[in-house]
Amino acid sequence: MDVAQRIKNLPPYLFAEIEKKIARAREEGKDIIDLGIGDPDLPTPGFLVERMCQEVRNPENHRYPSYRGLYAFREAVASWYKRRFGVLLDPDREVVALIGSKEGIAHFPWCVVDPGDLVLASDPGYPVYKIGTLLAGGVPLPLPLLPSNHFLPDFSAFPESLLERVKLVFLNYPNNPTSSTAPHEFFQEVVRLAHRFGFIIAHDLAYSEISFDGYRAPSILEVEGAKEVAIEFHSLSKMCNMTGWRIGFAVGNARLIEALGRVKTNIDSGIFNAIQWVGVEALARVEEALEGIIPVYTERRNLVVETLRALGFDLPYPRATFYVWIPVPSGFTSLGFAEFLLDRAQVVVTPGVGFGKYGEGFVRVSLTTPSLRLKEAMERIVHALGG
Ligand SMILES: Cc1ncc(COP(=O)(O)O)c(C=O)c1O
Repeated sequence: MDVAQRIKNLPPYLFAEIEKKIARAREEGKDIIDLGIGDPDLPTPGFLVERMCQEVRNPENHRYPSYRGLYAFREAVASWYKRRFGVLLDPDREVVALIGSKEGIAHFPWCVVDPGDLVLASDPGYPVYKIGTLLAGGVPLPLPLLPSNHFLPDFSAFPESLLERVKLVFLNYPNNPTSSTAPHEFFQEVVRLAHRFGFIIAHDLAYSEISFDGYRAPSILEVEGAKEVAIEFHSLSKMCNMTGWRIGFAVGNARLIEALGRVKTNIDSGIFNAIQWVGVEALARVEEALEGIIPVYTERRNLVVETLRALGFDLPYPRATFYVWIPVPSGFTSLGFAEFLLDRAQVVVTPGVGFGKYGEGFVRVSLTTPSLRLKEAMERIVHALGG
């Protein structure tokens, strides 16, 4: 028996060696602190759990959901977008519910990418942009996010003849893994380029609400003309600590939303209605949920950045996301530094190269570990680096 070529074409799993080391250390009874995974440790707010308990008892919610999502959920998305970004959306044509934004991102290339089409995917970036493209038969090209350009892509580095052949561009701000942010003017410029060269923009806004010091991340749809060329992916996972519930949504260009809905109707049967009703409540009360989340991440961010700066690392205080993107000390590769921290401090960090070749030279620390454990991890790192 053999698997399909498209599976064989998927890139090898880069962390196999380090995962083996982690497993071995755990078997030996070592106390490993995992700062690798971006999955909130804080629970879903109690008022949402309560709402779920009510909804799950309602037999009307036990049947197949609609593939595009409950109208009430799509309406809640539209009213949140209006309130939060000043963007008007038609819940009927410009919103689709997703089983988490990952599902929508992975399926989206099937809607717009024909075999051989070029897709620019942020590098370093969330791996699903590239994998979704490969599964659809497209050709992913790295869109480098370099420290010299504040981790924003520089489209002028590509020949125009190439940009004319690009079908789709994946962007993500606030950014995982670099925690960089993009100003409104950046989105204006990309929308202008999309009109000029005829490509589609898929913007991943999963981290919009995880921000600090008063920073408010923009939506690409705030830009005039964006709805003609862009789709935006969003999620309740990060902003309401709901990663396990699997609920997200896509908004934007009506043709793209319709195409994504059409793929989904042939593949999945939507999100459990009870969860969608929780989503309605979550979107109406996002600010309340964030009150319990942002102060915790702010404190953890300050702890990590202050500790590393005292050790001589040159890094800014991220304005958004729950990640800190750390330049590795000279002489180390990103994998080598991750292995060093595992061996010497029993702390797991993610090597930047796992997010693409332009992630080399960095490791990512996630702030989603309980504060006391994070503090202990930082103490161990100080010790390991001789601080
Ligand atoms: C940049 C980015 N986009 C999307 C997702 C997917 O989130 P979900 O499928 O839970 O909505 C993640 C998850 O880590 C992410 O980091």
